Amino acid sequence: HLTLNKLQLHVQDLRQWEKENGFPRQIDELMQLPALYRLALNELQNKIDVIKTEWQIRDGFSPIEHIKSRIKEPKSILQKMERKGYELSSENMEQYIHDIAGMRIVCAFVKDIYRLVDHLCIREDIRVLEIKDYIAHPKPNGYQSLHLIVSIPLILLEGTRWVKAEIQLRTLAMDFWASMEHILYYKFDKKLPPHVAEELKEAARAADELDQKMLRLRTEILELSDGAGN
Ligand code: GTP
Ligand code: MG
Repeated sequence: HLTLNKLQLHVQDLRQWEKENGFPRQIDELMQLPALYRLALNELQNKIDVIKTEWQIRDGFSPIEHIKSRIKEPKSILQKMERKGYELSSENMEQYIHDIAGMRIVCAFVKDIYRLVDHLCIREDIRVLEIKDYIAHPKPNGYQSLHLIVSIPLILLEGTRWVKAEIQLRTLAMDFWASMEHILYYKFDKKLPPHVAEELKEAARAADELDQKMLRLRTEILELSDGAGN
């Protein structure tokens, strides 16, 4: 169900772009790209589903709470290219825009995020190109998540093509904070009043404490159930 909608939207955006900026070459290739990213994202989704099911079978539950995927809107891709000052071409788009295919994996516990990342790093069918650990090193505003830029092999008639995707891994508490902050502020162009920024940061610390408390509780419960011979 991607394509018609997405592709048409894309064509419209490109036409608009063409009107405003004059259009470079390679329009055909540019139009095919979103379809490739959608396919790659489906592949990635499958891989994560397998991990989730395996975890479920082995441990009785999966630490992956939920997964969300999205393809970046053509308009946002064009805006990002413009904002970053790249000439509009499919090469630049592939090289510089890492989050055309995006996946967010929300886990129950921080530990599970690192377990999952360790696993993703050793797989041969996923290349981890970049890791940004905003859990160990939160952003100045308090934002926490672990971001991976990966590339996924898409086997096509023309051969194998490695397609990039961004994976954001978070706990439920981090996801709550980030979603709220996004609603309240993210990409809001004015500066926040200092006390608001400080309170948001405080809320991020509260989310972090909640994560740690839950982890402690889990450890305690696991020890109790081990002690009971379960
Ligand atoms: P862009 O923001 O996409 O230009 O890339 P970047 O190089 O800044 O990458 P980064 O890994 O910092 O952020 C990528 C994505 O993470 C963003 O598009 C958001 O979805 C998310 N993100 C990063 N920082 C924040 C933040 O402060 N608040 C929220 N809510 N989300 C954030
Ligand atoms: Mg950013």
